[in-house]
Amino acid sequence: MKSILKLIIFLVTAGMFLASCEGPMGPQGEDGPQGDKGDPGTALACAECHNTTSPMVAFSAQWKESTHATGGNAAYANRAGCVQCHTSQGFLEYVAEGSTAAISVPANPMQIGCGTCHKIHETYSDDDWALTKPGAETLEVKYAGAAVVWDKGTSNQCVFCHQSRNVSPAPVVNGADFTIAANGTRIGPHHGPNANLILGKTPFELPGDAHPTTNPHSTANGCVTCHMSTPYGYQAGGHNMGVWYDSHGTPVMLKTGCTTCHSNSTTLDGMINTLTAEVEDKMEILEAQLIAAGIYNSGTELANSGTFKANAVLAYLNYNTVKEDRSNGVHNPGYIKTLLDNSIAAMVALGYAESGK
Ligand code: HEC
Ligand code: HEC
Ligand code: HEC
Ligand code: HEC
Ligand code: HEC
Ligand code: HEC
Repeated sequence: MKSILKLIIFLVTAGMFLASCEGPMGPQGEDGPQGDKGDPGTALACAECHNTTSPMVAFSAQWKESTHATGGNAAYANRAGCVQCHTSQGFLEYVAEGSTAAISVPANPMQIGCGTCHKIHETYSDDDWALTKPGAETLEVKYAGAAVVWDKGTSNQCVFCHQSRNVSPAPVVNGADFTIAANGTRIGPHHGPNANLILGKTPFELPGDAHPTTNPHSTANGCVTCHMSTPYGYQAGGHNMGVWYDSHGTPVMLKTGCTTCHSNSTTLDGMINTLTAEVEDKMEILEAQLIAAGIYNSGTELANSGTFKANAVLAYLNYNTVKEDRSNGVHNPGYIKTLLDNSIAAMVALGYAESGK
């Protein structure tokens, strides 16, 4: 018991030290009145979170297995232009400054963790669970000239990072031929254009079938509905946020977020298989067309440099968006299928048949 008390006293002191270590020191104040004997309130506040039965312990274990913790790209992407999404420090600096213009590159880059998303150790109370970026997010990329806003509950925390990046310059539908420069072969929305696709507002739509304007999977709580649903151990859901886990060597999709709407699991499995097959099929057809047109390099998985028809580059950008989204259509089934169908049709119109299929 004594050692536990000592630990608590140490933790309290450590906490006060942490809480007071910001900014230059001010002028010395007057001696304060003598305090009473310790403050059990504060110690309790520590123990409310720091105890073995606190949910925090399980959340921590889930997070430790997540790509947020283990992806490793905080090191790789620790550069200007990347730190705001790839390092904890960069994101928090962005939140504080409201701009990405002058974010510093941290000496000790940290992966996305508790303190990236929650106000940990600010008040040492339950208020510390408040999210660091709870408000609606105006996406970087406009749609048909208008601003696009994501406002879906606690998933507002996710979308500053999980959205398309702007492609500029970009081709316009039926416009002039477009040149991809030798240093521009990474053209595309970057990894994680999830929010734009879920809202069905991506910038490279081609004419053809009308793009659906509703999405059954654009849920009120957004990403959190499926990615933070009841977890499977530490492997998926909850604070792992992944949707795939390994069950004795077999990859299984976590469906605890689906069942509120899809009550029959056999029907759901059938629908997932159908959708996955459809989207993979369309991606294969489009990929073959883009390779034939010389735009896509399946070796580097990037674009080739050169001058191409505008609609062919737009078809490539749609291909790249769906590939980087990595949901196999689930994020917005009808919209994603239409995006691909119209891209395939545009390539056919340019003379690239749906060969082999
Ligand atoms: C609202 C919940 C909460 C309260 C209250 C709280 N902590 Fe923490 N503390 C956390 C979380 C979350 C972490 C990070 C855990 C992790 O990374 O898994 C943490 C981590 C720590 C660490 C490890 C170093 C670090 O910063 O990551 C220390 C030491 C610590 N807390 C001390 C304290 C002390 C002392 C108090 C009371 C003055 C306190 N905590 C109160 C939530 C809390
Ligand atoms: C500060 C930016 C940021 C925030 C906020 C953020 N993410 Fe991420 N997310 C990333 C980055 C960066 C990666 C990849 C990490 C790496 O590779 O090092 C990632 C990875 C993921 C992955 C794993 C993908 C895989 O390959 O396994 C999922 C799922 C995910 N995030 C969902 C979410 C959800 C849900 C939220 C909101 C609750 C969220 N993210 C909030 C930046 C962020
Ligand atoms: C707007 C936020 C944002 C910016 C800015 C950003 N990234 Fe990312 N990046 C992400 C997210 C989110 C993921 C995770 C996507 C996923 O796993 O599906 C990611 C994933 C990655 C990956 C892993 C890809 C993979 O296939 O495993 C690499 C590498 C990467 N980013 C590098 C960079 C570099 C380098 C920069 C700067 C030039 C950068 N990122 C800028 C959000 C961003
Ligand atoms: C990528 C962002 C992200 C990270 C990293 C993250 N959380 Fe969370 N956390 C959330 C979101 C979003 C919610 C709300 C989920 C919901 O609405 O169901 C949440 C909810 C919680 C809650 C419940 C809050 C409440 O008000 O009751 C706790 C406790 C918590 N997180 C602890 C942690 C701990 C501990 C860590 C680090 C191990 C952590 N979180 C890391 C985004 C994050
Ligand atoms: C309707 C449920 C649902 C919603 C809502 C949802 N996702 Fe997903 N997401 C999935 C499923 C299911 C997959 C995996 C599909 C597959 O691999 O076939 C996935 C895949 C992903 C991936 C690829 C990595 C992985 O874990 O497989 C990322 C990253 C991701 N989602 C992020 C997000 C973000 C960020 C949001 C909110 C902006 C979001 N998702 C909203 C269900 C959802
Ligand atoms: C908010 C309710 C809701 C949630 C949550 C939800 N779905 Fe759906 N989903 C629907 C509705 C509504 C439809 C369209 C009607 C139908 O076909 O049943 C649909 C359709 C689908 C389809 C067929 C799409 C097509 O056009 O081929 C698949 C596959 C699917 N959902 C998978 C999932 C998966 C996987 C999850 C969880 C990760 C999930 N859904 C979560 C409501 C939901």
